[in-house]
Amino acid sequence: MKKVTLIPGDGIGYEISESLVEIFKAAKVPIEFETENAGADVYEKTGELIPNSLYKSVEKNKIAIKGPITTPIGKGFRSINVYLRKKYDLYTNFRPSRNLPGIKTRYENINLAIFRENTEGIYIGEEKYENDEKTSAIAIKRITRKGSERIIRSAFEYAKNNGLSKVTVVHKANILKFTDGMFLEIAREVSKSYEGIELEELIVDNMCMQLVTNPERFRVIVTMNLYGDILSDLVAGLVGGLGVAPGANIGDDIAIFEAVHGSAPDIAGENKANPLALLLSSLEMLKYLKLNDFAENIENAILKTLEEGCKTKDLGGNATTTEFTKKIIENLG
Ligand code: NAI
Ligand code: MG
Repeated sequence: MKKVTLIPGDGIGYEISESLVEIFKAAKVPIEFETENAGADVYEKTGELIPNSLYKSVEKNKIAIKGPITTPIGKGFRSINVYLRKKYDLYTNFRPSRNLPGIKTRYENINLAIFRENTEGIYIGEEKYENDEKTSAIAIKRITRKGSERIIRSAFEYAKNNGLSKVTVVHKANILKFTDGMFLEIAREVSKSYEGIELEELIVDNMCMQLVTNPERFRVIVTMNLYGDILSDLVAGLVGGLGVAPGANIGDDIAIFEAVHGSAPDIAGENKANPLALLLSSLEMLKYLKLNDFAENIENAILKTLEEGCKTKDLGGNATTTEFTKKIIENLG
């Protein structure tokens, strides 16, 4: 039995985690969850946002799956998500998006993965005022050779492992010649060692237009931190919203899989939450652990459930979280 750290999070985190645990149990997935929580509820009880036992569990198991976490506002905390990415050097933010049956959108054949650099760029948070009057401020964008090369390699490895023939690099090197220019140059270098995989280069503003007019032509996208943040929410919107958007933060040693949405305080505790984002993230986790048969079985059950028209309220259906979960379990092979 492989042990995985389960971080339920806050708000709807409890409901969607319960759904995940039940489905894994019914599908006989050889994983034992070790539950360790972090976030606003834990802070209320213990005065600590992330307990030491959580770090220990993640460092021992190397794999975690995480629900949404509320960062208490005005208490001087930075986002837990950003913190964990930094602490464990989880440099790849992987966000796959695809059309699902029964979820009506403008497009039918979207199936793409965004690889967002997760540790540098403008996200390093180095900002300052330039004068005492605070009428001018600057922010630093840091791009390194090492940081760029490893995220670009992640994207190319994914393309290679999935038999895909193109990777699209997104940049603004025409304006940012040193930072984005270096990222682009490294993408060109890396692409040379992947025979049969073409590198497509697109400037970020053009990419936005392409994504809303012709998203079906992209399969693998690699980009810097901020562009990746924005593009991945844009693409999530194209396939049905944050309720169906999975994600993962992956480093060389540790990986944390997560639902992309927040803790949804407006519906928490009402048995209305859509567990799909967390479930789809868990499928990526199973593939990462080479438990592909289990991933496939659960995936087929999810697709069948959606095809039958069973879905939660956010997707225009009327199933509760527990009804939706039960139906998926019934549809397991
Ligand atoms: P949110 O994603 O929690 O909610 C936005 C809207 O989407 C709400 O109407 C909510 O009901 C709906 N929604 C989100 N996920 C859903 C799901 N699985 N099923 C059905 N409906 C869903 O974003 P919001 O309101 O901006 O943030 C709420 C809290 O979550 C904040 O404290 C924020 O800091 C935290 N947050 C945490 C994240 C994380 O841990 N990864 C990411 C984003 C926000
Ligand atoms: Mg974001």
